[in-house]
Amino acid sequence: MSMFNLVKVANPEEGAQNLFQLLKKELESDRLHVLGLATGGTMIPVYEKWVESDLDFKNVVTFNLDEYVGIHADSPNSYAYFMNEHLFSKKTFRKIHLLNGMAADLEKECAQYEESLQQYPLDIQLLGVGENGHIAFNEPGTPFDSVTHVAKLTDSTLHVNSRFFDNDEEIPHTAVTMGIASIMQAKKIVLVAFGEKKRAALAKLLEGHVTAEWPITKLLQHKDLTVITDLNFD
Ligand code: GLP
Repeated sequence: MSMFNLVKVANPEEGAQNLFQLLKKELESDRLHVLGLATGGTMIPVYEKWVESDLDFKNVVTFNLDEYVGIHADSPNSYAYFMNEHLFSKKTFRKIHLLNGMAADLEKECAQYEESLQQYPLDIQLLGVGENGHIAFNEPGTPFDSVTHVAKLTDSTLHVNSRFFDNDEEIPHTAVTMGIASIMQAKKIVLVAFGEKKRAALAKLLEGHVTAEWPITKLLQHKDLTVITDLNFD
């Protein structure tokens, strides 16, 4: 049975508070220089906490997990836009890294991103989880040794994410994403999951069996995993 740190909270607000304390401790003890960031509704209360605090990120380098292909950074549907809106326009970082889903050569873009990751090894990677157990845009079946790559999105993910696309823009069927191996290299991983929609994915994690059909389960092999959730499994 794998060991990980399961933090049960009452609600997303308390989860965000918990993650805030964890981060603050790491920053204050000078263990946090490179931070992997995630997007999605789950992260909104998390970033809100950071923004209203006096946390100092001036010495922190960041990497975002993923981005849609073909959506311009200026579009409200892009992850770059999300990050700018919720965090980057409000806090100063030493250097931020975002995958460019508009790059002419996506393979090259991914290879360069992976190189930057090697240059700045991740101290902490924050993660959400998809309803089908995907982490970043590593969908079920993604090889565990994958590094940053172009990924095809599953119908399930397209369906779940379609709620954000309320304008004429088409939902992209591809994305650029850090791979499972890129994520696993982080010294510490903190996954946040709120609400019943994430129950199936977390249940798989708690089952303790590693399977490519549920990418989240690969995290069971990480040495330092914390999971923050408001779900009850008793
Ligand atoms: C997208 C992202 C994932 C994120 C997931 C969950 O698919 N690529 O990184 O974890 O959505 O998003 P939400 O927090 O909105 O449920």
